[in-house]
Amino acid sequence: MDEGMRIVADALAARMEDTGRLTFAEFMQTALYHPDAGYYNRPTMTIGDGGDFFTSPMVHPIFGACVARQIHQFWRLLGSPEPFTVLEMGAGVGTLAADLLKTSQQDPQYYEALRYVIVEQGPRLRKKQFAHAREQGVDQKIGWVDSLEEVQAHPKLGSFVGVIVTNELFDALPVHRLQRTEDGYGEFYIEEDGEGGYREVLGELSDPALLDLLDEETKGHLDPGDRFEVCPAAGEVIESMGRLLERGFVLTVDYGDTAPDMHLRHVRGDGVRAFYRQAPAAVLEQVGAQDLTADVDFSLLMRRGEQAGLATVGYTTQMHLLGGNGLLHKVQELQQRWFDLNADAQMQKMLGLFLPHGLGDLFKVLIQGKGIDPEAVRGRISTLTFEP
Ligand SMILES: C[S@@+](CC[C@H](N)C(=O)[O-])C[C@H]1O[C@@H](n2cnc3c(N)ncnc32)[C@H](O)[C@@H]1O
Repeated sequence: MDEGMRIVADALAARMEDTGRLTFAEFMQTALYHPDAGYYNRPTMTIGDGGDFFTSPMVHPIFGACVARQIHQFWRLLGSPEPFTVLEMGAGVGTLAADLLKTSQQDPQYYEALRYVIVEQGPRLRKKQFAHAREQGVDQKIGWVDSLEEVQAHPKLGSFVGVIVTNELFDALPVHRLQRTEDGYGEFYIEEDGEGGYREVLGELSDPALLDLLDEETKGHLDPGDRFEVCPAAGEVIESMGRLLERGFVLTVDYGDTAPDMHLRHVRGDGVRAFYRQAPAAVLEQVGAQDLTADVDFSLLMRRGEQAGLATVGYTTQMHLLGGNGLLHKVQELQQRWFDLNADAQMQKMLGLFLPHGLGDLFKVLIQGKGIDPEAVRGRISTLTFEP
């Protein structure tokens, strides 16, 4: 156990002192986001080479370039407003921000209107993002805040016209783990196992309102013994985003699916996954030193978004986001370079992000809008009109 894991273990023990147990969401919150030693706040935390997992922006800069192109189109659809705010929440090591901004420089009028805000919970990650942005020459364009509440209260930000974008934010938010029982529902808690580790125990629901996060159709399909996860934080975040946006779009890219499929896929209990050094790991081990992640319930984002004024404009896959925004042109360009082996390698990475039955299908894309007519814009959004 390293020093960081020790800090996390002590913090968990302190939180467990009163009740002897924590909800899985409390456990996951501490394991991932303890301010000094949670997984995302460890000094060594990184994504991609040397980290525990890769995300799409880390695979190839084409991802950021395609997202930039989609956001540029949103700007035009909104009537080319100035200022135009792009807010990225959960920016990791800052790769998407830098790639997106560098691509955006191709339209000077747009770049002039653009201001980029990163909402990032971790001071160490914020530092890494700043260093990367500086290296790429785009640091002047970015402002940092640590929560959506801070954006709301900010004198120069407040509510804004623009786009909120996230890649793999929602799958990193803490979930509660529940089970359908013979006579209702139960919740799994985490307690110490007496041997220096942790174990799961079933108890009553920590809050009956957790069931409101599950749609009626999924409830109708569940049998006693079936397990599922719910994420109150996801509902809260999407509602805050809806409130923050005066007019514009929310673009969400993440693992997951709509209900009931998303839940029914995991009834045997694999709804939370752990990654350690780029390999699957046991969820209750290496606590604080490994990533924990859960599929996103996109139906919840749509439902709760609508309550905050976000209309669902479209729901599709990463293949459509990339294919609709120029990836295949870039692949064609590379195909011309017949004797260039580096071009082959680039092409493989690009296609890895795009092709179905892989990342292209695995990652879903949700586009929500506020102050726009979804029917009127749907057919003018490249991501939603792409035909493979
Ligand atoms: C799985 S990583 C994804 C990073 C990046 N978007 C990428 O694709 O490489 C999740 C990110 O969300 C951040 N995060 C999680 N919860 C957050 C919150 N409540 N507010 C701000 N950032 C958060 C984490 O610190 C981390 O930067």
